[in-house]
Amino acid sequence: MTKNPQFIRDIVGGIKPGSIVLIEGPTGAGKTIFSASVAKEVIEEYGQKVAWIGILLEPPDIRDIFSNILRINLDDYINAGQFKYYGFEIVPVSDRLIMISQLLNDIIDTYSPGMIVIDFIDPIIEFASTSDLLSIRKMIKTNCGEKKCVVLMISRSPLHGLRSRAEIISDIVVRIKIEHPSYGAPRRFIELAKIKDIPQTRMIYELDMNKEYGVTIHPHGILKELRSNINHEVRIPTGIDGFDDILGGGLIRGTSTLLIGPSGVGKTILMLTTAYNMARKGEHVYYISFEEPEQQLVETLRFLGFNIEGLKGDLTIHSINPRTITINSFFSIINRIVDFSKPIVIFIDGLYSLWKEFGHDFHRYVRDLIYYSKSSNATMMLSMIYEKGVEEKLYVWLSTMCDGIIEMNFERADRSVRRLIYVRKMRLSSPPQKYFEVLFENKKLSIRTL
Ligand SMILES: Nc1ncnc2c1ncn2[C@@H]1O[C@H](COP(=O)(O)OP(=O)(O)O)[C@@H](O)[C@H]1O
Ligand SMILES: [Mg+2]
Repeated sequence: MTKNPQFIRDIVGGIKPGSIVLIEGPTGAGKTIFSASVAKEVIEEYGQKVAWIGILLEPPDIRDIFSNILRINLDDYINAGQFKYYGFEIVPVSDRLIMISQLLNDIIDTYSPGMIVIDFIDPIIEFASTSDLLSIRKMIKTNCGEKKCVVLMISRSPLHGLRSRAEIISDIVVRIKIEHPSYGAPRRFIELAKIKDIPQTRMIYELDMNKEYGVTIHPHGILKELRSNINHEVRIPTGIDGFDDILGGGLIRGTSTLLIGPSGVGKTILMLTTAYNMARKGEHVYYISFEEPEQQLVETLRFLGFNIEGLKGDLTIHSINPRTITINSFFSIINRIVDFSKPIVIFIDGLYSLWKEFGHDFHRYVRDLIYYSKSSNATMMLSMIYEKGVEEKLYVWLSTMCDGIIEMNFERADRSVRRLIYVRKMRLSSPPQKYFEVLFENKKLSIRTL
């Protein structure tokens, strides 16, 4: 499994020992969680200790922050001597600067951590004059700098876009922003607003925080350049009678195929059957649905008479409610699946729901996903509701990206209805240019000549 970008190493490119880093953002932006994830990185990637000076949060809350999102038992760090909490008592304003200086010195002398987090700095510097601020900066730079300790300060954003007082004393300024789109989960961004001594333009990355995947940072665009190593002879049979014949033996490993058709035509049944058959033969298969809950899909497999236990490969079914994710997390969830198991076959059922949730933006992500999968030799099958006249543009976009397009449709005659299938495009194959019938008899799917 490849690693997520790490903040210190991959985004900042390493923080100079002894730097003062400011993390600022509005309430609810995730400053503390983000700082906790940096602490995790310092401990796990750099093998250094972290001291946490708490003003707002007591240890129970900090434990929750580490366990809920980062899935870390803070006591493990504490018992291993890698993490230490220091409470900061709020003393009269005039004494706060002296108190924090003493505490910092104390920590440096007795614990010698690689990083000290001050959560949060605002009440300490609230009434400090500029010369006080400069002397606290000097103090930190002297004491912490000498011991190569990074000081990370958390601060609420100042009102009305004023430059915050804490920025005066910082070498690196990181702003966390939160946006509430009209659909989907809130989106968070981190902006590297200042890195001392390094001239730069603003750098903004998307930041995701959720229980399932922890804290992740997304660099923009495609992570790998476009490349592929497809061999038209390496095919994965669908195992459906008649279907493999028209596909030329199955899906080519490393390609993506789009399955389109109106609602109820049988896209899900066809994809689930294919997924199961492939897993049965030893493939690692991941089935993601944006339309139906996991339990219902598992029940459909049972209804089809499939025995989900005892597969030679494996079949993981995962449902995602588009409303609970950001478009970036959709992309990173699948990237992680692609990286996790190779080679893999991924089924994505219900692209139309993503489109409804995220609008035009979504096709760019699907394109990145298709390219990324190709470079990782993942095989994909994506389904989308498509009825004539609906979202013509979306269909054109997706169809140019995919290697194959399979259409399903109803054919109505008198009082009976038939389901038809037609392989409209399949790169590196020569599918017969005609319709076939999809039969579903005795809970078994097969494809026949008309
Ligand atoms: N070839 C077929 N013949 C008859 N019924 C079918 C066939 N394919 C699917 N069905 C039935 O149609 C319904 C909808 O199928 P589903 O796969 O969920 O459609 P979609 O995903 O395209 O909306 C299911 O109840 C299924 O039993
Ligand atoms: Mg469906």
